[in-house]
Amino acid sequence: ATDDKYQDKLVVAKAAVAYVKHNDIVGLGTGSTATLAIKELAKLINNDFKITGVPSSEATKELAISLGIPLLELGEVSSIDISIDGADEFTKDLNLIKGGGGALFREKIVASLSKKQVIITDRSKLVDKLGAFKVPIEVNANAEAYVVRELKKLKGKPVKRIKEGKTFITDNDNFILDTDFGLIDDPRMLDVKLNQIVGVIAHGIFINLASTVLMANGDFIDSYHN
Ligand code: A5P
Repeated sequence: ATDDKYQDKLVVAKAAVAYVKHNDIVGLGTGSTATLAIKELAKLINNDFKITGVPSSEATKELAISLGIPLLELGEVSSIDISIDGADEFTKDLNLIKGGGGALFREKIVASLSKKQVIITDRSKLVDKLGAFKVPIEVNANAEAYVVRELKKLKGKPVKRIKEGKTFITDNDNFILDTDFGLIDDPRMLDVKLNQIVGVIAHGIFINLASTVLMANGDFIDSYHN
């Protein structure tokens, strides 16, 4: 089954890379599926096919450097031609939950800068309603208690993310509250409400940011477009 998943991820990674054109500025996502796409992209680089990457995490930056992909810093680019990233959940109307790997803030910046965002997934990520996957919410430490209070008002159940026995710290030195809202009837509304809470750096609900979701489905690729 693990092998199947790997094959699935590879198939959509290759399909996503086919959207990239010579001289594009390419947003590089984070996670196991995005990693495969970045490796495929690196293989294509030659004198007639050059790209510049913009990494969405420190891990992806290291990977891209090791593969020889020229990079720009995220804070320096005002537009990205295309980005490729994974997701933890998606619905057919292209709303997503991201941040399982904790890179959601920079991923959301990359997605926001992108003219086109291709999300690569497998069948396990498609849902009718978002929310079985707890919403990752990146929070500044000074606002922890306040944000917890406000999330509870929204009927959320926040749990601070722990990794290997320690509080998980993001690339931006914040931590993550994985928050259970149950199945989310109105993700747009929740997006707005979470954005209004002081101390929330970013949350993992991505509304209207993806242009295409590619989903590996056996020997086929299902694609959903905006
Ligand atoms: C990283 O913060 C996430 O948003 C990832 O894009 C997401 O967790 C998908 O990762 P996989 O491709 O490893 O499932």
